[in-house]
Amino acid sequence: MPTLIGISGSLRRGSLNTLLLRAAAEATPSGTTLTVVTLHGIPLYDGDLEAESGPPEAVTRLKEQLAGSAGFLLVTPEYNNSIPGVLKNAVDWLSRPGADMPRVFGGKPVALMGASPGPAGTLLSQTAWLPVLRTLGTVPWFGGRMMVGKASEVFDGDGKIKDTAVRGQLEKFVSGFAQFAERLQGGR
Ligand code: FNR
Repeated sequence: MPTLIGISGSLRRGSLNTLLLRAAAEATPSGTTLTVVTLHGIPLYDGDLEAESGPPEAVTRLKEQLAGSAGFLLVTPEYNNSIPGVLKNAVDWLSRPGADMPRVFGGKPVALMGASPGPAGTLLSQTAWLPVLRTLGTVPWFGGRMMVGKASEVFDGDGKIKDTAVRGQLEKFVSGFAQFAERLQGGR
């Protein structure tokens, strides 16, 4: 059964991006698992901390989850028309040491999605991730787009997607990515 890892780039309790990730996990086709990850407990990258005590436990745990996965989904907020620091910081930790990057990220299927209260739905943030994903050696999936604009109106009070068009789009997106990951990575 392919296992995908979904990482939310927001720490906020009421995060729209974490809601979107949870909805994606529920929309995952049978036979695929999407594990929901948030980045609580990951400190700011500090080369001295790394040299003195190695990577934090939360980073090592996530690295091993990624290494053993069939692919991963970055659920990215947009800050100032670009990547949010919390998620970039985590990816920077995960890319260390550089010699480990091929094991963790090399040839790894990845998809991007995101939600914002504004109309553009993280378009610029998703675009800004592309050079990073290239540097990591991942294989981005471009078979679909999931940019949820006006996201405050998309979820109900229980955090479920109430907009049926968005729900349908999400199901299509997740199943397309799961098929792509399975094709590339087989039975991971
Ligand atoms: C934002 N927000 C935002 N939204 C957007 O569509 N384009 C942008 O450039 C920015 N810039 C920005 C900068 C900073 C510092 C913050 C804190 C916020 C709004 C952002 O999309 C909104 O806060 C989302 O709700 C953040 O995602 P979560 O926490 O709901 O997942």
